[in-house]
Amino acid sequence: MSYLFDQKTSHETACENAIRAGDTEKAIFHAAKAAEFGFALAEKAGGVIGARHAEDAEGWLEIAEKLRRNPLPASQVSGPRSQGAAKRPSTPAQPALDLGRAASAAPSPQSPDGDADSSEFQVTNDTGVTFDDIDGMEEAKSAIREMVILPMQAPEKAAALGIKAGGGVLLYGPPGNGKTMFGKAIAHEIAAPFFYASGAQIRSKWHGESEQKLSRLLHEAQSRPVAVLFLDEVDGLLPRRTAESSAVDNRLVTQFLSDVGGFRDSPNTLLILGATNKPWEIDEAVFRTGRFDEKLHIGVPDAAARLGMLKRSFKTAPLAPDVDLPAWAERLANYSGSDVVGLARKACQIAFRRSIDESSDPVVRADDLERAARAVPSSITPALLAQYNAFDKQRFG
Ligand SMILES: Nc1ncnc2c1ncn2[C@@H]1O[C@H](COP(=O)(O)OP(=O)(O)O)[C@@H](O)[C@H]1O
Ligand SMILES: [Mg+2]
Repeated sequence: MSYLFDQKTSHETACENAIRAGDTEKAIFHAAKAAEFGFALAEKAGGVIGARHAEDAEGWLEIAEKLRRNPLPASQVSGPRSQGAAKRPSTPAQPALDLGRAASAAPSPQSPDGDADSSEFQVTNDTGVTFDDIDGMEEAKSAIREMVILPMQAPEKAAALGIKAGGGVLLYGPPGNGKTMFGKAIAHEIAAPFFYASGAQIRSKWHGESEQKLSRLLHEAQSRPVAVLFLDEVDGLLPRRTAESSAVDNRLVTQFLSDVGGFRDSPNTLLILGATNKPWEIDEAVFRTGRFDEKLHIGVPDAAARLGMLKRSFKTAPLAPDVDLPAWAERLANYSGSDVVGLARKACQIAFRRSIDESSDPVVRADDLERAARAVPSSITPALLAQYNAFDKQRFG
């Protein structure tokens, strides 16, 4: 059993490597081999397990079939390989356009149920969240300005220098610090629809059809002239492969690498944002293959950002003269953005109750904030912050 399993795994890896290298023939070969060993495993195991292996093998066949229909662009690696110069198209305005078109046109005949699935991910045409609504995160904002906003504002200059708007960005960091909010704000800033799906949802809700659905979601987003695709909990979608990782996981990773690689040459602008609280659980290949060129650590807000959030939260609330917001901003070190906002909300609730009980004016006092701080502690532990720092060090040196 383990021989078959090892063979299958090694073909899966080889398939993924071939996709990374842009070698369609090789990728098809290894996907077909993975299917073959998958069916062999199915026969050997029988029963429920066997059925699962068979289902997985079908998935690999499907990937092979897909690759046949949509060959990969020549090479997608921007790493140390020397093919860079040869790869650069002499006419930057028309880089392998037909590939992009093939990629967005291909799934239509295969999806008889049309957009019946779109209920399983959300599309918002205007999120209404702006960069100005987000306190702090200056580095992340300027990275996105450079990657997407400026190239869209000055397309001729960008094209002349071979710069294309969009791509993949991984947003990682402790929960509640504005990753989702940032994604929405980016979509608003570039007037793009916001596609949202969560990794956990894709795996559970789309059980058995996860790769096809993921593929369709990617194509749907990519068929728009400009779009932001937010893949929340992307660790659940592209988990690190282990001996215990499920077949579905492995197929999802491969499918994702293949689909995203195929979009590189599309004339449309797609920004894929992957968000995760657990970047260390993401498959290595996702980093190696440059699917997320940019990685942005979205950490806890600093004192200035916390002050911004407090001011925003109390914008319409009357504050007693004894409330010193800058001092509170200093005090709430290691509070996440949502902790800060939650504490302010709690203080308002406490002030409200007190104003009812005392029949006094609705005013937030210093001791309302004190009571709120006792009720809403920071959700971020030093151990958790250390984990992100260790990840940064290990991953980016
Ligand atoms: N930098 C920030 N500026 C303003 N509000 C923030 C910020 N970070 C977090 N918040 C508040 O916390 C809430 C949760 O943030 P969210 O984007 O869902 O975090 P994440 O996706 O990182 O878990 C937001 O809706 C917002 O109210
Ligand atoms: Mg979020």
